Amino acid sequence: MADPVLRIEGLTKNFGGLRVTDDVTLDVRPGELHAVIGPNGAGKTTLINQISGLLSPDAGRIMFGGEDVTALPINKRAECGLARSFQITSILPGFSVLENAARAEQAQQGCSYSFFGGAADEEALNMPAYAALMQAGLAERAAVPAGELSHGEKRALELAIALAMEPKLLLLDEPMAGTGREEGERIVAALRSLKGRFPMVLVEHDMHAVFALADRISVLVEGRIIATGTPDAVRSDAAVRAAYLGDAA
Ligand SMILES: Nc1ncnc2c1ncn2[C@@H]1O[C@H](COP(=O)(O)OP(=O)(O)OP(=O)(O)O)[C@@H](O)[C@H]1O
Ligand SMILES: [Mg+2]
Repeated sequence: MADPVLRIEGLTKNFGGLRVTDDVTLDVRPGELHAVIGPNGAGKTTLINQISGLLSPDAGRIMFGGEDVTALPINKRAECGLARSFQITSILPGFSVLENAARAEQAQQGCSYSFFGGAADEEALNMPAYAALMQAGLAERAAVPAGELSHGEKRALELAIALAMEPKLLLLDEPMAGTGREEGERIVAALRSLKGRFPMVLVEHDMHAVFALADRISVLVEGRIIATGTPDAVRSDAAVRAAYLGDAA
């Protein structure tokens, strides 16, 4: 089996006396959509924050592209293709939709690490921002100031920005939160169309979306992974049903 793109080993994080991430080990394989689910307060966002570099773990390590990035700051991880969508994306309202996507593309080119190097990747970095807008269905809005977009179009622009960055791994923390049914379905469709191009870690409470999209699911309860497997395996796992899913999936 191919080496994982991301491997987390023994990750542990305490907030005061509370252990929020408890010896978490998991890997994300090339092209895989790996969902992380679990109850409110299970530590999902804290886990994502440690992967992106927003938070430092107290113990354990994070391997990305075969390199230990545990000590690398968030901006360096982003430059190297560890992208986080929806929550840290900053749309600049005064700049056009195309300019927003182009900025993301340029930011990614600052990566000084060569561990993903090679000619093919060089080409990928040059993917025009415009192509990313086309894939997100925003090409017609390229010249419009981003501040004039509707809520749904802003979500599409956030996806286009992530695409323009040519992520090596995309972290998604509740991308459907706060959207209506139609908008949520649009996001599911967009994620489905992106599947396989790069691996994704998806944190989401919408079990319909998770079970429709995920290749594998890890279940986090009180900071610990209690199960990792295919949707079918996780759905039929007695411990998972008892701790979280109940009759939801
Ligand atoms: N900066 C912080 N300082 C202290 N405690 C925190 C901090 N951030 C999170 N926590 C606590 O850590 C635990 C895990 O929080 P986290 O936000 O990671 O959960 P979550 O699984 O993302 O929940 P949700 O599904 O509601 O988004 C919670 O008990 C939360 O109160
Ligand atoms: Mg959260």
